[in-house]
Amino acid sequence: MRLDKFLCESTDLTRSKAKKALHRGEVTVGGQVVKDASFHVADDDEVHWLEERLVSFGHRYLMMHKPAGVECTTQSGLYPTVLELIELPKVERLHPVGRLDVDTTGLVLLSDDGQWSHRVTSPRAACAKVYLADLVDAFDEPARERASRQFAEGIQLDGEKKPTQPATLEWLTPTAVRIVITEGKYHQVKRMIAAVGNRVGTLHRESIGPLSLDEGLAPGECRHLTQDEIEAF
Ligand code: URA
Repeated sequence: MRLDKFLCESTDLTRSKAKKALHRGEVTVGGQVVKDASFHVADDDEVHWLEERLVSFGHRYLMMHKPAGVECTTQSGLYPTVLELIELPKVERLHPVGRLDVDTTGLVLLSDDGQWSHRVTSPRAACAKVYLADLVDAFDEPARERASRQFAEGIQLDGEKKPTQPATLEWLTPTAVRIVITEGKYHQVKRMIAAVGNRVGTLHRESIGPLSLDEGLAPGECRHLTQDEIEAF
């Protein structure tokens, strides 16, 4: 694809503005400034416009450190949305890939590639999601063992046809747990914790499948995924 067309497809630049950006030397391909609008961009070329990595054929894939008080939706409502935190052109094309509750923090993926999102969230993929939670009540040893066993065996949640898939509940302290689930039912972690007789105080998602939240990514920040990360799903 021609470089000027590539720029138009992956940003909000018009053809004439894309040509001006090229002329000003704002675009690099493989780290080299390219000013020629007819330059052919190959599939594996890394194209940057100013600080932004542009992804070929318009698809973009991001990880975000979601802060509390922000909603995983594309529609404005009571709370600011994850899209409002992203300073990229054509942000309205992106959607969150799966959801976290307003008060949950941690890893959220965003993309404009519906097929990829489906691969990540499809129940058949059974992608493992790892959460850290602080619980309101301290459990003694027998209660901790019982709760972990219930998670492993599956829990029948109200309003669900089938019990939850086997999940892991690992006790880090009497009130802090690491939870691994492979489904994405509505409020699943909070409902599972309620079912074993406790309540979630804070909830944070560490990872989805092979992707963990970057330690250096501050709440509210996001970054583009690498090609390897995109293909890992
Ligand atoms: N489970 C929940 O209960 N809330 C989340 O935000 C994610 C998983």
